[in-house]
Amino acid sequence: MSQATPILHMFAPQKHMSPFDVNMAADAGFKVIIPYSNVDLGEVTGLVQDAIFSRPPEYGIRTGVFIGGKDAMLALDMMKAAKEALVPPFELSVFADPAGSFTTAAGMVACVEKLLKQKHKRDFNGTTVAVFGATGVVGFASSVIAALEGARVRMVAHRGVERVVKAAAVAKERFGVELEPAPGETPEQKSEIIKSAEVVFAAAAAGVQVLSAQEIQSADKLLVTADVNAVPPAGVEGMELFMNGEPLPGCQQTLGVGPLAIGDIKYKTESGLFKRMISSTEPVHLDFRDAFALARSFVA
Ligand SMILES: NC(=O)c1ccc[n+]([C@@H]2O[C@H](COP(=O)([O-])OP(=O)(O)OC[C@H]3O[C@@H](n4cnc5c(N)ncnc54)[C@H](OP(=O)(O)O)[C@@H]3O)[C@@H](O)[C@H]2O)c1
Repeated sequence: MSQATPILHMFAPQKHMSPFDVNMAADAGFKVIIPYSNVDLGEVTGLVQDAIFSRPPEYGIRTGVFIGGKDAMLALDMMKAAKEALVPPFELSVFADPAGSFTTAAGMVACVEKLLKQKHKRDFNGTTVAVFGATGVVGFASSVIAALEGARVRMVAHRGVERVVKAAAVAKERFGVELEPAPGETPEQKSEIIKSAEVVFAAAAAGVQVLSAQEIQSADKLLVTADVNAVPPAGVEGMELFMNGEPLPGCQQTLGVGPLAIGDIKYKTESGLFKRMISSTEPVHLDFRDAFALARSFVA
């Protein structure tokens, strides 16, 4: 185990680094934490090289960069720039989790997968998933994770399908997955989406109800509905904060996963990835795929 002090440089493209992530990093064991705000993509190389050349190469495994923000693509671009800036043997570890979205999405997908396996003897392969809030960072990351597991993912647009079409094109280019844009502005459009869905991810903005109890009860094929919104009203009417596999009110078949059940796995996953940065014997580069693998181990 390296004796070097664990140092974390936290890059935020916006005005503030998230206090949530600062606390998580401190509680996971980083001893020195430095937040940087308003960081541009073009500044990442210089900051990373400043960090690596000031410590002996063997201290690189105790030097970390965390990438926050509100934009999944920018965070992945910053992560790529950070990796390309490394000059072996001078290296460091990188972890991206913009707005906590990668670990939250990982927690949601892992919780739902567990219920699909336990209660329905199936997994995401071939399962139809409808994602509400698909243009958001959590909705986007969960769409990609589920699609990588073989799901047919429909990204629901609540105000114009163009932005969802764009997000799907980005996902295809970067991750090779096919995501299906689905207009969901009218009750009729929503009803059509819900009727074909076997899983729903409700990942819309805090305090926004995207589905009523009546809509959920009318969905004959719906097996599991997960909701990440902890701010009342629930994203899915009738969802309870700690629900984890109980049927939603008025439903025989549809099981609910609430935001604090997901939050518990999210918390463990983010903490676990910070701890991995501190304890690894090699530099690590962690994104939503690593988050999903770890979240799966927590729900298993
Ligand atoms: N449980 C947990 O551990 C945890 C952790 C982190 C975040 N969260 C929650 O996850 C959710 C998503 O967070 P985020 O960071 O991804 O948010 P975000 O980037 O702001 O995205 C919000 C999404 O909601 C959509 N939306 C806004 N108003 C809507 C409406 N009236 N009807 C339908 N969709 C609407 C937005 O669409 P437009 O782009 O068209 O506006 C966007 O797709 C939030 O509820 C947040 O509190 C939970």
